[in-house]
Amino acid sequence: MNRLASSHPFHCQKHTQFLSRTMSVVGFDLGNENCFIAVARQGGIEVVANEYTYRQTPAVVSLGAKKRFIGEAGKTAIPTNPKNTVYNFKHLLGRKYNDPFTQAELKRAFYRHTETADGFVGFKLDFQGETKTFTVQQIMGMLLTQLRGTAEMNLKMKVTDCVLSVPSFFTDAQRRALLDAAQIAGLNVLRLLNESTATALAYGFYKTDLPADTEKPRHVVFVDLGESSLQVSAVGFTKSNLNVIASASDPSLGGRTFDLRLLDHFAAEFKTKYKIDVFSSPKATIRLRAECEKLKKVMSAITNEVPLSIECLMDDKDVKSRMSRAEFETLAADLFERIAVPLRKVLADSGLAKEDIFAVEVVGGASRIPAFKNLILEIFGKEASTTLNQDESVSRGCALMCASISPVFRVRDFTVNDITPYGIELSWQNNGENNTSDVFAALHAIPSTKLMTYYRGEAFELSAQYKANQPTLPTVDLAVGRFRVEGVTPEKDGQPSKIKVKVRVNPSGVFNVEAAHRIEEVAGDADVAPMDTSADDDVDTEAPKDKKKKIVKTPLTVVPIVEASLPADKLLLVVEAEHQMIVSDKLEKEREDSRNAVEEFVYEMRDKLDDRYAPYVPPEVKEIFSTELSATESWLYEEGEDQVKKVYVKKLEELKKLSDPFVRRYNEAQERPKAEEALRSSIVLARKAVEQFKAGDEKYNHLDAADVDRVAVAIDAREKFVNEKSAAIAALPLYQDAPITTSQFVLEKDTFDALCTSVFNKAKPKPPAEPMQTESPVPAATEEPMKTD
Ligand SMILES: Nc1ncnc2c1ncn2[C@@H]1O[C@H](COP(=O)(O)OP(=O)(O)OP(=O)(O)O)[C@@H](O)[C@H]1O
Ligand SMILES: [Mg+2]
Repeated sequence: MNRLASSHPFHCQKHTQFLSRTMSVVGFDLGNENCFIAVARQGGIEVVANEYTYRQTPAVVSLGAKKRFIGEAGKTAIPTNPKNTVYNFKHLLGRKYNDPFTQAELKRAFYRHTETADGFVGFKLDFQGETKTFTVQQIMGMLLTQLRGTAEMNLKMKVTDCVLSVPSFFTDAQRRALLDAAQIAGLNVLRLLNESTATALAYGFYKTDLPADTEKPRHVVFVDLGESSLQVSAVGFTKSNLNVIASASDPSLGGRTFDLRLLDHFAAEFKTKYKIDVFSSPKATIRLRAECEKLKKVMSAITNEVPLSIECLMDDKDVKSRMSRAEFETLAADLFERIAVPLRKVLADSGLAKEDIFAVEVVGGASRIPAFKNLILEIFGKEASTTLNQDESVSRGCALMCASISPVFRVRDFTVNDITPYGIELSWQNNGENNTSDVFAALHAIPSTKLMTYYRGEAFELSAQYKANQPTLPTVDLAVGRFRVEGVTPEKDGQPSKIKVKVRVNPSGVFNVEAAHRIEEVAGDADVAPMDTSADDDVDTEAPKDKKKKIVKTPLTVVPIVEASLPADKLLLVVEAEHQMIVSDKLEKEREDSRNAVEEFVYEMRDKLDDRYAPYVPPEVKEIFSTELSATESWLYEEGEDQVKKVYVKKLEELKKLSDPFVRRYNEAQERPKAEEALRSSIVLARKAVEQFKAGDEKYNHLDAADVDRVAVAIDAREKFVNEKSAAIAALPLYQDAPITTSQFVLEKDTFDALCTSVFNKAKPKPPAEPMQTESPVPAATEEPMKTD
């Protein structure tokens, strides 16, 4: 963790420190396979662990009969409950069911799916005794709920404000769908941050040797080869700026593409060799795929042949094979060629010469594949650099972004200028004609705003869509959204009014028609509203008018009709549904915990009954209790398998009623001798003090004899008490309650000590002031209180 220092670029705002207790600063890397959570603390950014102490949380959601299993618990359900377990769902966000990418994705899935009424993907999953259809946003919302819980567990506060990572190639619809998922999980997304930009921020933020803003920037290429995709960005850094210059990607090429290549290879081999069709069994497919992934990882480390061996893969057959790195590279040669495409594209689009590139930083789990690193060397003429944490940089960048947006931290000025990968155009009807205008070009800076001018006498509609023929666009669905401008009226003379429309791609990369105004030109001294000049561009799309008069701006209503965003009423319903599932998960966990408590009690007691508790249990109780334990054990696996929480609580209470007496006797037997010994020590000390007084010790010669006598009497009484009780305890068997408890001994000691202290710690009077002495003075008695342990 980065330590706080006065010159540190990152620290808690002094005047807003209270905010840090109420506002969260969190970055989530939503990987296709692994999610990471980074939080900002006063000392800097820290990647936090989940309840299993792992820093990564698998992006898996599994629905059980009674509750959800998300993250690590979900992953363990992949082989056991494949029909109700969803993973690899990130790319389905905001995609139509019929999109070829969706269909390719679903082909490998083991869960049931359907097209929803609005044409998107629905997962058909069994949950709580019913088959229900969940949207991708809901499943992502469940994962985000889990991640939010992990962040809250670490920060010990409610988490809402955050920055979420998003693949740089995500379309408008995908970004909107993710934002809805975040709302379902109760998160307030301050910004969606492109994954490769997050990595660039994690790289540049702490660099102290970047060129001045007036100098030539340092150019670094970031390459993220994750589980599902490849993202490449060329970035220019100066002291206070990060400028993304170019970005390219392959949205469907990542580590899993190599796993699937291996899976297909070995499935074909085993078909011939062992006469088994692995793909006919989900379980066998899942096992073989997992082994292929392991093999791929081992091949990253060694060049020799690596064995692959699975016992009882299917039809009771054990399978064996081998592969070397060289064979793997041949088998996946076309995939490596595909990796080269976006690498070359970024180099070309950025306009950078190889020599201008300071470093090529690689991140993402699959960037550990050696042939991938060789490609970097081949294309950029530089060794791949691995100075960043390959798994955690995206989450760190997101947390840094969150810190710089949030008021909780004061961070150094470092502006992130990102780009939107795809060109967007606007279409509208005018006098029965279709018109289209480019509004944002591909690789255009974000955020970006434009003002468009129209002349209309009534409500009208604008359609935004991606420009056709953008080969990198990962969807066939070009529509971005329709936006209806309402409340438009003609001018007094019946002529169309002038309407200014503000369109924007916001910092999250989401397109919107943000506002529309009717612009009235008036003569004379009318109240004049200043024109909004915040747009980068002001485009007058139609015939210009006479502009010499003053203007009055009247806001108009813009109604977005965007399929990928859930309408407010539907969003409310799914937020409520998520809330109910959180509550039912919590109740189910409590129920399971109470069942486990009974089970643990049975096993613990059975062990201890023959061991430490044995002498403290009367023989007849032992028999009854043992029988009760066996009966409870059987009950837990039969009738008691599935009971409500209060039944388990009651069962545990009943068992404890039997065990509490001997457990208490055992505990007393451990503690009572210590208390008895302490009382005896107090008696010994007090007796010594009385003897010192009687011997005329100077230390006590100011004490009253009657007081000391009271102590002497108390000593005899206490000694008699402790001796009698000891004898009584010794006379009884251990399985009977002792005639005195630990706390009684403690009480006796406390009252005895109080008496002794009041007598022996009485302050010695100060000797009267004496005139000058000629003889040497008698040394003053030191005031030393009696120690009573
Ligand atoms: N040593 C290794 N050699 C090869 N591949 C590896 C190695 N270690 C991890 N991987 C692969 O990295 C991939 C996971 O990478 P990562 O965690 O970066 O993905 P992600 O962030 O979840 O996905 P994405 O970025 O695509 O959304 C898996 O395919 C995994 O097999
Ligand atoms: Mg990733």
